[in-house]
Amino acid sequence: MASLNTQSRMLARKQQIRPLAASLLALAIGVGAAAAHADDALPKLSTKTPLKVGFAQTESNNPWRLAETKSFKDIAAKCGWQVVMTDANGSNSKQVSDIQSMIAQHVDLLVFPPREEKPLAPVVLQAKKAGIPVILVDRDVDQSVAKAGRDYITFIGSDFIDQGHRAADWLVKATGGKAKIIELEGTTGASAANDRKKGFDEVIAKNPGMTIIASQSGDFARDTGRKVMETLLQAHPDVTAVYAHNDEMALGAIAAIKAAGKQPGKDIQIVTIDGTKGGMDAIAAGELGASVQSSPFFGPLACDVAQRYAKGEKIPTWVKVSDRFYDKANVQQSMQYGY
Ligand code: AHR
Repeated sequence: MASLNTQSRMLARKQQIRPLAASLLALAIGVGAAAAHADDALPKLSTKTPLKVGFAQTESNNPWRLAETKSFKDIAAKCGWQVVMTDANGSNSKQVSDIQSMIAQHVDLLVFPPREEKPLAPVVLQAKKAGIPVILVDRDVDQSVAKAGRDYITFIGSDFIDQGHRAADWLVKATGGKAKIIELEGTTGASAANDRKKGFDEVIAKNPGMTIIASQSGDFARDTGRKVMETLLQAHPDVTAVYAHNDEMALGAIAAIKAAGKQPGKDIQIVTIDGTKGGMDAIAAGELGASVQSSPFFGPLACDVAQRYAKGEKIPTWVKVSDRFYDKANVQQSMQYGY
């Protein structure tokens, strides 16, 4: 039997070996994955009906996600798709394993919004290696690992950087170029959060009267946004503006601002992104200043792209979605676009 000292030496050695083993495994996966995309052409897509399509959702905790899922349910019959759906409940690893089990089921096509850019990139290569074409919708993956047009058919989605620019442009005008801003970021590591931050911060940096006094993730969720805003309001009582990366966090921030005895839309200007029904109602009520729409209706677009791809048409690497903009000037007549 090993002595206590020998045991602790063995444990220490095991702990040194573990990171080494993990790095070797990561390297092996990397090499395998690289082999998947070296010179291989993109997998072909059958024109048969029905087509078995896997749709792996990230979570279902807000109206935007629900509208996105519904747009796939609604298009399925029209497009001749038999859709297999999963919900990762906000977990990258669950989304990866959901997709892996769709690969094991040999779906004909995979469509999904990658929750985060990096953790979801390798599974795109695994699908390619298994001969299953992939369309990414809403969010993109890390292009240094998996590339649109080489490893997957295309990315269908909005220009998130431009959304950030548009939100900042509105805020500069609404505040006369003078504001102390709290930024509520989306899910850390998600392309939507990275790019919305980049676009907004770029414009703010060019306006010397505008300062971002705090920037923290609210994970694109209403309640997290409310809690983060509560804490930040205490630390920064001089805040005059909020930029939330989505409507849900803006609605959470509005609740926190009211609870702190301030008036959203008067004491604090708020701008956000999404264009949900809840966001549009808040604009109509004068509590939210503006929302840049981010369309969640990818079902029909994905159907069209898949059908054209199956016929051999060349698909651009980015199918860009154009988004509306709502503020008090047009929100009433735009209500039909809310979801
Ligand atoms: O990726 C799009 C974002 O994700 C939407 O703005 C948000 O509401 C969702 O959770």
